[in-house]
Amino acid sequence: MEDLKGGREGLIHRSDDKVYRPSGFWSQSIHKLLLHLKNEKFNSAPKSFGFDSRGNEIVSYVSGDVYNYPLVGAISSTEALCSAALLLRKYHDVTASFVQSKNCNDLAWLLPAREPQEVICHGDYAPYNVALSGNTVVGIFDFDTAHPAPRIWDVAYAVYSWSPFKTNPHDSLGDLPKQSARAKQFCDSYGLSYADRTQLVDTMISRVQALVDFMRDEATKGNEAFIANIKDSHHLAYLADIEYLERNKEQITNCLVANNHDA
Ligand SMILES: Nc1ncnc2c1ncn2[C@@H]1O[C@H](COP(=O)(O)OP(=O)(O)O)[C@@H](O)[C@H]1O
Ligand SMILES: [Mg+2]
Repeated sequence: MEDLKGGREGLIHRSDDKVYRPSGFWSQSIHKLLLHLKNEKFNSAPKSFGFDSRGNEIVSYVSGDVYNYPLVGAISSTEALCSAALLLRKYHDVTASFVQSKNCNDLAWLLPAREPQEVICHGDYAPYNVALSGNTVVGIFDFDTAHPAPRIWDVAYAVYSWSPFKTNPHDSLGDLPKQSARAKQFCDSYGLSYADRTQLVDTMISRVQALVDFMRDEATKGNEAFIANIKDSHHLAYLADIEYLERNKEQITNCLVANNHDA
């Protein structure tokens, strides 16, 4: 067994073409989703191989190069950004029929469903949860946070993560004009509507605030990983990013809607 890096230390393992990850109350739902993706011939996500007797889920290994912040090399390229947006669009389109099917009734998810339930949001579509071939994003993994919600909810977190609108020096990449231009490129490749673009910064703020609320709730419930996160002040970085988005909302939105004619 090989220890996979880039997520929770010592908990994610690979053996040949299979990955073993801790499962939770939401994992059966995720495996139904993965089965749907496979049936729909969406080949950029892991395939489900069920569960082992030690409480792990088993999924196929998604081939490709993996990255994390700071965004350096292929992951920082415009091709990576645009192909990430295209792949998210393709993924969302394929999940729309799952949300509408009876297979999706009464499923449990780690994050609360939000109305209107248009698609299954990945929930953490960030540069550290995709695989690349050269400069192209070709695979997605880590579906733990998937949940039914509107598309814009997922696009908001993806744009926040990929632009990235991060204020801490380790994670940031470029100044506000560069971040806004990358955000627009993501929206263009995804095909985000004009109406959604006008709402995107507010949705990013709500989405990041929801993450901070979730971290605090989980820490209060005794979840060790989130207790450690709060102790390391991770939530303060997110709150600083929210302030940054609030302060620059008009400038970012002007860039997002420029030359967008589907109003
Ligand atoms: N199905 C998979 N295919 C390929 N690599 C994977 C897969 N699942 C996880 N990994 C690798 O293991 C790392 C940690 O796994 P991840 O599921 O993202 O953990 P966490 O839930 O702790 O974020 C990822 O960054 C990736 O490199
Ligand atoms: Mg991960």
